[in-house]
Amino acid sequence: KGLRVSDKGFLNTAVLRSEITFIDGDAGILRYRGYPIEQLALHSSHLETAYLLLYGSLPTKSQFKVFETEVLHHGVTHADAEQFCRSFRYDAHPMAILTSAFAYLGSYYGEANPSLQGQNLYTRGNAASLEIMDKQIYRLIGKATTLAAMAYRVRQGREFVTPPTGFSYTGSFLYQMDHLGEENYTPNPVLEKALDVLFLLHADHEMNASSTTVLQTGSSLVDPYSAIAAGCASLYGPLHGGANEAVIRMLISIGKPENVPAFLEAVKKREKVLSGFGHRVYKTSDPRSFIVRKTADEVFKITGKDELLETAMALHAAAMKDEYFIKRKLAPNVDFCSGLIYRAMGFPLDFFPVLFAVPRVVGWLAHWRQMMLQEGGVKIWRPRQIYVGAGKRDYVPIDERV
Ligand code: CMC
Repeated sequence: KGLRVSDKGFLNTAVLRSEITFIDGDAGILRYRGYPIEQLALHSSHLETAYLLLYGSLPTKSQFKVFETEVLHHGVTHADAEQFCRSFRYDAHPMAILTSAFAYLGSYYGEANPSLQGQNLYTRGNAASLEIMDKQIYRLIGKATTLAAMAYRVRQGREFVTPPTGFSYTGSFLYQMDHLGEENYTPNPVLEKALDVLFLLHADHEMNASSTTVLQTGSSLVDPYSAIAAGCASLYGPLHGGANEAVIRMLISIGKPENVPAFLEAVKKREKVLSGFGHRVYKTSDPRSFIVRKTADEVFKITGKDELLETAMALHAAAMKDEYFIKRKLAPNVDFCSGLIYRAMGFPLDFFPVLFAVPRVVGWLAHWRQMMLQEGGVKIWRPRQIYVGAGKRDYVPIDERV
C-alpha cells in the first residue's frame, strides 16, 4: 500500500550519501575525494589513489610506504587457491575465474566473516574493527592482481608466478602475467605507466551497477570476499565492465571504415548496440575518455598502431555528427578506446573486463568501508516491489490439470 514503481533502472534514485567520488555528468567532471581525475592521472599512481579513495586523503610518505608494503605483501596466495584456479577449463572466461576465486578466498578468512563470528565486526568507533577491515582491504587489493594473473596463465597452461619484490603494484601484475623465466625481467616502463593510468581511471565511479551490488550484498553483513565476488559478477556484463571487450568485438565485426555507415544504420534500427558510447551520468563527455586517448597515443608509439584504430576513428567521427546520437547525448565513454590499448599491449580479448575489475576492487572496498562505518550502522538494502501477479488460486492435482 502506498508503494509506487517510479524509477526503473534507478535513473533518479540516490541510495546513500557519499564522500568518495563526485561526478557532474553535464559538465563532464570527475573527482576522487575532491581531486580532479586529470590531476590524479598526471601526478598520482593507482596505489596512491587507492589510499585516497579508501581513507579520504592523499597519504604521507610513511603512510604510503605502510600501505604499499601491506598490499604487495598480501599478493601471495595460498597454494590451495592456486589449485582452485588450475581447476578451470582452458577456455573458461577469466572473469568467471576471477569471480569464483574471490568467493573462494572467503572460505579462508573466518576472522573477517561476521556470520562465523556471530557479530558485526565492522562497527564505527571500534579500533579492532578498523584493523580487521584494513587487513581484508590489503588482502583483496593485493590478491586481485595475483588471481587475475593466474586466470590469464592457467589458460595458457603456464605455471603461476609468485609476486615479485621491488615492483610497483602494476609492475608486479605485469611481471606475474608476462614473466617466462627470463633473468632480470622488467615490464616496459611506458606500458607499465599506461596500465597504471588506466587502473587509476577505473578505480572508482560512484554508484555504478557493480558498486551498488557490492553494497547491497555487503548490507546483509556477508564477508567482504563474497561482496567483492558479487561486484565482479555485476561488472562482467557487456553494459558495464564487459563493454571494453564488446567494443573490440564490434570493431572486428565492422571490419573496415567503409562499413561504418551501415553499422550505424543498424544501431539506429536497434539491431545493434554502439558499445563504448553512452553513459547513465555523463551527457556531454566522459572526462576519462580524453585521458585514455592520450594514453593510447603513448602506448601506440611503443607497440605500433592497432589495425582497428582507423575503423574506431571513423565510427567515432560518424557517430559524433549523427543526429540520432547527438539528440540522445551519446558520446564515447572510458571504454571506447581502452580495449584498443589492451589489445596493443597483447592482452587477450576476454581478459579486458578483468583489467577493469582489478582496479575497481579499490572503489568497491572504499564504498563498502564507508557503508560499514557509517553513523547508525548498516541497514539491510531490501527494496519493495508491487505484486501484479495472479490473485489467490487453489492447488490442482497434476492429473486434473488441463
Ligand atoms: N548505442 C545506441 N543507442 C544508445 C546507446 C548506445 N550505446 N546508449 C544509449 N542509447 C540510446 C537508448 O536506446 C535510448 O534511446 P531512446 O531514448 O530512443 O530509447 C537513449 O540512448 C538513452 O539511453 P538509456 O538506455 O536510457 O541509457 P542508460 O543510462 O539506461 O544506459 C548505458 C547507459 C551505458 C548502459 C548505455 O549507454 C549503453 O548500453 N552503452 C553501451 C555499453 C557501454 O559502453 N557500457 C560502458 C559504460 S562506461 C563503463 C562503465 O562504467 O561501465
